[in-house]
Amino acid sequence: MLKSILSKPSTQQYIIRSFSTTTTVKSTPVGGSGRLNGKVAIVTGGGDGVGKETSLLFAKEGAKVLVVDIDAAKGKSIVTQIKDNGGNAYFFTADVSKANQVKEMIDVAEKNFGKLDILFNNAGIMISEDDDAISTTEEVWEKTMNVNLKGVFLGCKFGIPALLRNGGGSIINTASFVALMGAATPQIAYTASKGGVLAMTRELAIIHAKQNIRVNALCPGPLRTELLDKFLNTPEKRNRRLVHLPMGRFGQASEIAKGALFLASDDSSYVTGTDFLVDGGLCAAYVTAE
Ligand SMILES: NC(=O)c1ccc[n+]([C@@H]2O[C@H](COP(=O)([O-])OP(=O)(O)OC[C@H]3O[C@@H](n4cnc5c(N)ncnc54)[C@H](O)[C@@H]3O)[C@@H](O)[C@H]2O)c1
Repeated sequence: MLKSILSKPSTQQYIIRSFSTTTTVKSTPVGGSGRLNGKVAIVTGGGDGVGKETSLLFAKEGAKVLVVDIDAAKGKSIVTQIKDNGGNAYFFTADVSKANQVKEMIDVAEKNFGKLDILFNNAGIMISEDDDAISTTEEVWEKTMNVNLKGVFLGCKFGIPALLRNGGGSIINTASFVALMGAATPQIAYTASKGGVLAMTRELAIIHAKQNIRVNALCPGPLRTELLDKFLNTPEKRNRRLVHLPMGRFGQASEIAKGALFLASDDSSYVTGTDFLVDGGLCAAYVTAE
């Protein structure tokens, strides 16, 4: 597959060729504590929000990071930031809902960084027209499922063999608090997709536990990222979500990245199959704090 990409002129050809010339960065990232030294990580949806902050943090902590996004401009700018800070990263364009592209993503990481240790299946979408069961169209349902649920499945389908070749590793699948609690703003396709991510993550964790592969679901609360800003697009909708947050504020993508770092690093060596909440207390709240 990789050979055929290299033999034809395409955007990905450019990416892979220039990728192979950039894997020898020798400088040390600025400011990290080396928690991911020697590790190779893939971060999907790495161009923005949670994926962006996680790519920056993983690289700062010593990982070689393959930043993957459907939006090349965003992803490449994150790689530039990582390199400017002395880290080692490259960008690969992929739509996580497309099997051939996800397979290539894994091939590129292994071929250029030599192995895979950490797979962060994080790319996700929330479509503004996603609503209640009556109003939501099949098109919205299918698109959401393809990216949010099938995208995670495909990452695992092609990523687990790579982790096994490496003797194990850590998979982190981004779910959401709405997989655990009923959402007050209707978003039926999104909620169902994230419920699927949780259930799939548990099964993967059990099936691969003895193979030294840990699989955890990261469940963020509501965050100030483009994804939620687009969906909660009126003050009423924003406040409807905000009243459930004991801390009285939305989370930051960088706060979720720190959860991802824990799950990716050996600090979580006895953690698998969890619904790892980073939600400002939302799921613990019976009533909203004043
Ligand atoms: N923002 C929130 O409040 C919130 C809450 C809970 C869970 N999450 C989940 O966290 C994850 C990240 O969300 P975010 O808020 O950082 O979103 P974001 O919109 O800020 O960033 C998502 C990134 O994924 C990329 N992307 C979208 N579709 C893709 C595809 N098919 N293939 C590859 N890349 C694709 C986008 O280009 C973008 O760079 C998602 O899975 C989301 O569902 C977000």
